[in-house]
Amino acid sequence: MAELLITGGAGFIGSHTCLVLLEAGHRLVILDNFSNSSAIASKRVAELAGVAAQERMLVLEGDIRNSNDLDRAFNSMENGIAAVVHFAGLKAVHESVQLPLKYWDVNVAGSRCLLEAMQRHNCRTIVFSSSATLYGYPEQIPIPETTRVQPINPYGQSKAAVEQLLDDLACSEPGWRIARLRYFNPVGAHSSGCIGEDPKGIPNNLFPFVSQVAVGRRAELQVFGADWPTPDGSGVRDYIHVMDLAEGHRAALEVLQREEPQLLTLNLGSGKGHSVLEVVQAFEKASGQPVPYSINQRRAGDAACSVADPRLAAERLGWYTQRSLSDMCRDSWNWQKANPQGYSQKQQ
Ligand code: NAD
Ligand code: WQD
Repeated sequence: MAELLITGGAGFIGSHTCLVLLEAGHRLVILDNFSNSSAIASKRVAELAGVAAQERMLVLEGDIRNSNDLDRAFNSMENGIAAVVHFAGLKAVHESVQLPLKYWDVNVAGSRCLLEAMQRHNCRTIVFSSSATLYGYPEQIPIPETTRVQPINPYGQSKAAVEQLLDDLACSEPGWRIARLRYFNPVGAHSSGCIGEDPKGIPNNLFPFVSQVAVGRRAELQVFGADWPTPDGSGVRDYIHVMDLAEGHRAALEVLQREEPQLLTLNLGSGKGHSVLEVVQAFEKASGQPVPYSINQRRAGDAACSVADPRLAAERLGWYTQRSLSDMCRDSWNWQKANPQGYSQKQQ
């Protein structure tokens, strides 16, 4: 059991990870400014975790760029904070192209503020949400961690900058315990259907778009290109169930706390690729609903294929994904069906 600060803990990946960490017995402080999430997500996490666990979870509204908010979070636990899981950030690729200053501010300056607060409060263990986006157009498939980092948009640049900052810190002071986890395509939801992904506005990503089509919120999916050099011509990605991803964070924390100080850089993916058309088919099967689609032009900045080489995470963490594409579709659908308007529908 450890006291953990979870930045961005009300968001999609954060909420599922909080549940897994509560179930593992940890005590959590969540710091979130709710710019892309709802406090209802954390309430539902508390409900799912059960009455006893609720006492081990504190939710604070605050910003990682504000050192007073950070100090409040670090001071909220009697025994201090042993480790940070850092999810807070912005993640919309297209928006980052239009608003690069915003992305460098929240993602990079925000992370710097957080790391300064960690130094002030003598906390030297952090798990950072990095992204496969920093491989850009990958040079090889599957993608090992040694692949060149060459992001192709400001969002990816901001992740690469924080990775570099963490590397510099680890070199400057040997006591740091750091995991840079490069997620592939996180999707799905908790099997209860009580928590899930709730994008604001029109979804940028495939899974939330497909599930909104299936539930009747949107008329049809636009498939961004059917002329890619892939088996069926549509883009191939490594989708990872958010509960597998959450369990990856628990495993990374355990390794960081158990072993000597180190800097871990790991892909979190399944190692399996699925095309857009395969996802459509699997979703129709899981939901029993039609997912009409039309073939559109390629989206700027997309790669044909992105699939992780997940072997290093298996070796270092003893972790690998356990849930299939049909599990991802079933759980996304459960969440979507029960919450057609996301968290805004059913106030608690
Ligand atoms: P999300 O938007 O659902 O969660 C991010 C959370 O951070 C939200 O609750 C938001 O309100 C909060 N936040 C944003 N700015 C903040 C600030 N300045 N101070 C405090 N809180 C702030 O996104 P997610 O999908 O859960 O992603 C979590 C992390 O994982 C992000 O860093 C993202 O870049 C990274 N990531 C996500 C994906 C993905 O496809 N979802 C893939 C790779 C990496
Ligand atoms: C998947 C596939 C699209 C929407 C993004 C970010 C990445 C990471 C994960 C944060 C592609 C196709 C999509 C649609 C479609 N996030 N598609 N119609 O682009 O692999 O990764 O999320 O770190 O940084 O870039 O995910 O879900 O947007 O797309 O045909 O309406 O679905 O072309 O082949 P992507 P995605």
